[in-house]
Amino acid sequence: MKKKKLYNIAIVGLGNIGCYLFKFLNKNRDNISNKNNSSFKILYVSAKNKHKRRNIKFKKNQWVNNFNNILKNKEVDIIVELIGGAEGPAKKLVFGALSNKKHVVTANKALISKYGDKLSMIAEKNKVNLEYEASVCGGVPIIRSIKEGLIANKINRIYGILNGTSNYILSSMEINKTTFRETINKAIKLGYAESDPSSDINGADVASKVKILSCLSFNSFINKKIHVEGIKDVDDEDITNANKLGYKIKLMGFSEILNNKIFQRVHPTLVKKSSYIAGVNGVLNAVIVEGNPIGKNIIQGEGAGPSATTSALVSDISSILRGNIKFPFAISNKRRKNYSSGKIQDLFFSSYIRLNVKDKYGVLSDVTKIFSNNKVSIKRVLQNPYKNKKKSSIVIITHRSKDNDIQKTLKTLAKKSYIIQKPKLLRIENG
Ligand SMILES: NC(=O)c1ccc[n+]([C@@H]2O[C@H](COP(=O)([O-])OP(=O)(O)OC[C@H]3O[C@@H](n4cnc5c(N)ncnc54)[C@H](OP(=O)(O)O)[C@@H]3O)[C@@H](O)[C@H]2O)c1
Repeated sequence: MKKKKLYNIAIVGLGNIGCYLFKFLNKNRDNISNKNNSSFKILYVSAKNKHKRRNIKFKKNQWVNNFNNILKNKEVDIIVELIGGAEGPAKKLVFGALSNKKHVVTANKALISKYGDKLSMIAEKNKVNLEYEASVCGGVPIIRSIKEGLIANKINRIYGILNGTSNYILSSMEINKTTFRETINKAIKLGYAESDPSSDINGADVASKVKILSCLSFNSFINKKIHVEGIKDVDDEDITNANKLGYKIKLMGFSEILNNKIFQRVHPTLVKKSSYIAGVNGVLNAVIVEGNPIGKNIIQGEGAGPSATTSALVSDISSILRGNIKFPFAISNKRRKNYSSGKIQDLFFSSYIRLNVKDKYGVLSDVTKIFSNNKVSIKRVLQNPYKNKKKSSIVIITHRSKDNDIQKTLKTLAKKSYIIQKPKLLRIENG
């Protein structure tokens, strides 16, 4: 057996994740080295503020004030970027590291979903690895599964719950019967949501992950066209209605190839209570891959947090320690494809529609007429009068209809004088 190679690592960013990773690597060095038949050393660490108190111990000569000073250092083999954000220092560090022929490990979905193609070109040209398992669903090893375990498969659809914070909020609203606002405040207090949880709530975080998973699943370049709706308009009444109708509401991301077009979308989704995905609660994530010959494959786990994210980062570091160079997006950039993008309006869904209306004679019959005029057929109707308020809510479940027809229906309804609030649409996933 060949002599063990020693890899020198620099960790840049010592926040939640960086500090946990630093401690974990030091504590488990022998075990990780033995499993990979290579050894490693944390040669340098860096963060923004030298004087910040951190719960880790490192030697004075390990600290680097400015990461630019290690980009050209021949001793450094692997740079772990744990700063975050698509622009600024993280971008400068990762572009600089790959250009200087350093392997890179990053947990930064914003950066990979925006600049992944350019970074992948540099990595391939310079024959170094760009690893980013921790950028999608924390501890769920979905990227390595697609690249390695599922390599035999032609994947045609990938979807799931890709954001722990929004899943915590929706499941908590259901279990504790709390409002959206109350639940977010509790999530921030418990550390399940950042103090500014907007990218978790508005769907942007899931959109970044969907774009990355699309590239890996379909051997394509990053496609920026994606339909994104967050969870801020889902209220406790929708959760109660869904429950009565046999559904749960989850924020889900989907990517699929249909008629040679890529359809990417993120939106709150009604799923049958009996489905697998309905049972994925709290901060858990679950990704479902549909491919040939595997069929349906589900992988589930903790989507965020220092321990789960470190598990993914160590998997990436190990991939480099084992030696061979891999294409960042599973195949050579020369073979990756560009798909044109399809629109959600062309897809067919069964849908949940909630109308808050003035409680007066003839409203329901006018509503059903508008649905029929737009070729949308109704499967179920639930009517909930609000006591003493002279208004009621009408909940309609449609048969599978073209999304464009549903949207036209809602536009017509929105103009009616009996409609009190913008009609609400939630799509249903049957499966
Ligand atoms: N937290 C999670 O659960 C989770 C899960 C999956 C992926 N991720 C990803 O992991 C990455 C890190 O997240 P985090 O939660 O650890 O963030 P964080 O706690 O905010 O830490 C960011 C770190 O970056 C450092 N930094 C900022 N500007 C810098 C610069 N110019 N040079 C060097 N260091 C700089 C900060 O330094 P100071 O400490 O001196 O301020 C801090 O240590 C992000 O990409 C995030 O999306 C996080």
